[in-house]
Amino acid sequence: MPPPRVRAFAPGRVNLIGEHTDYNDGLCLPFAIERGVTVTAERLREPNEIEAHALDLGEQDRVPLPADARPTAHARGGWRVFVRGAAGELRREGVEPAPCRLEIRGDVPRGAGLSSSAALSIALCLALCAVAGAEPPERLALAHLCSRIENDWCGQETGLLDQLASLYGEAGRAVRIDMRGPGVRPVELDLERHVLATVDSGASRSLAGSGYNERRRECRRAAAELGLESLRDARPDAVAELPEPLRRRARHVLSENERVDAAVAALGRGDLGEVGRLLDASHESLRDDYSVSVPEVERVVAECKEAGALGARIVGGGFGGSVLGLFPPGAKPPPRAVRVEPAPGARLL
Ligand code: GLA
Repeated sequence: MPPPRVRAFAPGRVNLIGEHTDYNDGLCLPFAIERGVTVTAERLREPNEIEAHALDLGEQDRVPLPADARPTAHARGGWRVFVRGAAGELRREGVEPAPCRLEIRGDVPRGAGLSSSAALSIALCLALCAVAGAEPPERLALAHLCSRIENDWCGQETGLLDQLASLYGEAGRAVRIDMRGPGVRPVELDLERHVLATVDSGASRSLAGSGYNERRRECRRAAAELGLESLRDARPDAVAELPEPLRRRARHVLSENERVDAAVAALGRGDLGEVGRLLDASHESLRDDYSVSVPEVERVVAECKEAGALGARIVGGGFGGSVLGLFPPGAKPPPRAVRVEPAPGARLL
């Protein structure tokens, strides 16, 4: 008999560096954080449905079983789509969701660039599998499954960064992800009494409604103009010949990939000043070449620098969301800053 009541947790993530590279077969260096989404699932005998409660929002929903294995016309926006998407995509993978009552609770701010949506879909899938007495798909397959929930059910063309970070997170470590493969390698995040903190800019955004999908299209066009499958293989001299804005978009992707490995190397030699410089350079590139910053974010970046940050940059999909700052010992981050530390990845509790 499967256990009658299970609890799954999936963390949000902070991407130290390597932004807008994931859907370009590139490199990223995220870590899972302590905050995340918890889903409790209790097996029900009947009726044959999933009864879902979003406790933070005071909302509920019912999903008849067997779940639709394909996104339906109404499947756009909001937490309810994630429940339907998780049930539907699991069914497609051969896991038959069982009747249950779900309680969803989270402490990752939504729309703040800390990946609340990947945390939600992963926690839902782990809980739905456990309460049905089924093994969840292995981590990489689960990351792909959850990214189909975002892409096909929510209309957000996100890459795999958030899901892999949440699933492969480890205490004290970031993960270097090479999206070609993908290959995931832990990287010690020894901050020597420095502090990483995020500051919410207050400008919230939904990825589907922002310019995110447009950036993806621009990258596809840039790769096609260069006769390549992805920008990972682009050469700087060929990129320099592209028309604008494709030239700047591709230049960001190439330079950001280089910064990821430069950051891994700097961490390896304990050179946190260099990590800070790389964060600043990443932000400049995201602002000037990739054009994903907004005035609220610029104000927060300036605030972090005034507070003594060695580096500060916009994190996540952009067009709002949070800023990540690296503060040396003794510096006082802005009052709204929340310290972030690498924490373990998604799991049953
Ligand atoms: C969002 C997406 C990720 C990634 C980042 C930008 O978080 O979900 O797939 O593209 O933006 O690096």
